[in-house]
Amino acid sequence: MSRIAVVPGSFDPVTLGHIDVIGRAAKIFDEVHVLVVHNPDKTALLPIAQRVSLIQQAVSEAGLTDNIHVTSWSVGLLVDYCTEVGASVIVKGIRSQVDVAYETPMAIVNRNLAGVETVFLLPDPGHAHVSSSLVRQVASLGGDVSPYVPKAVAAFLQQG
Ligand code: PNS
Repeated sequence: MSRIAVVPGSFDPVTLGHIDVIGRAAKIFDEVHVLVVHNPDKTALLPIAQRVSLIQQAVSEAGLTDNIHVTSWSVGLLVDYCTEVGASVIVKGIRSQVDVAYETPMAIVNRNLAGVETVFLLPDPGHAHVSSSLVRQVASLGGDVSPYVPKAVAAFLQQG
């Protein structure tokens, strides 16, 4: 039986830190579903379909396409998607204690809802300061985001 993991997030936009975690998950699990989910607590910059397209380009750029599937989910709980595709694990990247505090309640709720466990992975410390919100802010003020995002994302944000 193949082990399927879901890497969910807003990915608005995907960063090099996200790609690092996705790559690590792809080495551990047979199949990895990168899932773009709308987060109602955040104001979005990019439409969901654009985020999916940029992740697809970024995983391809990183040579990671083999066991990675990129899609979005908007019709219910994250664990509903996990059940639908037979995923028993959610993977999240942890940059700091702030992320642990943010992720822990969601991990427990997802386990209580459907028995789906969450695995926390540590990205390369070089990405510890990188966040989508920082990238959105720097890009909106005309700064260079290329050190923080895949080439496809930098190119997309620079033309906008
Ligand atoms: O990248 P983000 O914004 O931190 O990702 C958070 C996200 C989208 C994964 C989270 O908000 C989520 O899982 N939303 C789906 C709705 C859901 O299942 N909520 C209950 C469990 S937390």
